[in-house]
This record gives sequence, C-alpha cells and structure tokens, in this order.
Amino acid sequence: MITINHPAAVYCPEAPVRPTDPVRIADTELPLSAEGAHAGNLWVRDTLKAMGIPAETVYDTVSITAEFSQNAVRWAAPGAHDTAVMAFTVAVWDDRIRVTVSDPGDLFQAPQGGPSGSGEHESGYGLELIVANLAAGWGVERVLGGKLAWADVKIGGS
Ligand SMILES: Nc1ncnc2c1ncn2[C@@H]1O[C@H](COP(=O)(O)OP(=O)(O)OP(=O)(O)O)[C@@H](O)[C@H]1O
Ligand SMILES: [Mg+2]
Repeated sequence: MITINHPAAVYCPEAPVRPTDPVRIADTELPLSAEGAHAGNLWVRDTLKAMGIPAETVYDTVSITAEFSQNAVRWAAPGAHDTAVMAFTVAVWDDRIRVTVSDPGDLFQAPQGGPSGSGEHESGYGLELIVANLAAGWGVERVLGGKLAWADVKIGGS
C-alpha cells in the first residue's frame, strides 16, 4: 500500500507562517483516481465556502485544484496500485489561501519553457496557463512518500 505523509498544509519555503498567525487548516485523503480527483475538487469548494471565502476566490482555487488533481491522476504513478491515494489540504490565513495536492509519484518533470502542445498535440497548459495565471505563487516540492503541488490564492483577487 502506498501512503503519503504530507507535511503541514502551510509548508512553503517562500512564505513561512509566523507561529502567532491564526491558520485554519483542513485536509482529506482520497483515492488516486478520476473519482477521487472529482471528490477532492468538490471538497475544496465546500470547505472554502464553509469558511466564508468569497465565491470568486473559491472558484479560482478550485480551478487550480482541478489542474493539480487531474495531473496527479494522469501523471503521478501510472499503473499505481489501486489503493494509491492523494491528499488535499487547504489553509487560510491573513489574505491568502494555500491549496495543496500531494500524490505518491516520485518524479515530476517540470514543464520546460511553457506549454508543450503543438497544433496537433494540445497539452501542457494546465500549470503554465491556468495555475500560473490564477495563483499568486505556486510550486511543486518533493515530500516523503511522493510530491506536493501547492498554490496560493489571494482572497478577493490581486
Ligand atoms: N502530479 C504530477 N506528477 C508527475 N508529473 C507531473 C505531475 N503534474 C504535472 N506533471 C508533468 O508536468 C507536465 C506539465 O503539466 P501540465 O498540467 O502543465 O500539462 P499536461 O497535464 O501535460 O496537459 P494539460 O494540463 O494541458 O491537459 C506534464 O505533462 C507532466 O509531465
Ligand atoms: Mg495538466
């Protein structure tokens, strides 16, 4: 069985949380499958709504989550055992939301110089065009048991 030991939801070398910051955190673990990705996207939506986050910010955050979760299913661990899981977290503090999606795949091939799609091969847009445009910051980190994609969204837009 593959397990993910994802770090604290607020892990990010670029924006450490001060110990006194009030942080609201939620997380969930779901199967590494299209159904799991869909359920995770809805979980992020419902969790942020319940926290009172404005609808437009929820929409942007869910769009990013959908890119991350789709990638996890498509690329993380082809042929993974059917007990493989992915984990979703949201953390809210100050004026930002951080969403993370972690998966058990070892490797991450960062997009090289933007979308890789040619006219006949439309792909490679999720991270560079959708995530990069909606997020105030984003990245991918190796973590124990796999990798973690994170993105920050400013509440109320930039
Ligand atoms: N979770 C992941 N695990 C491993 N590799 C990944 C993961 N996410 C992305 N990648 C790699 O990064 C590349 C770029 O991802 P990106 O989401 O931008 O494009 P795509 O998934 O290929 O196409 P699109 O998102 O436009 O349908 C992928 O093609 C893949 O090689
Ligand atoms: Mg993608």
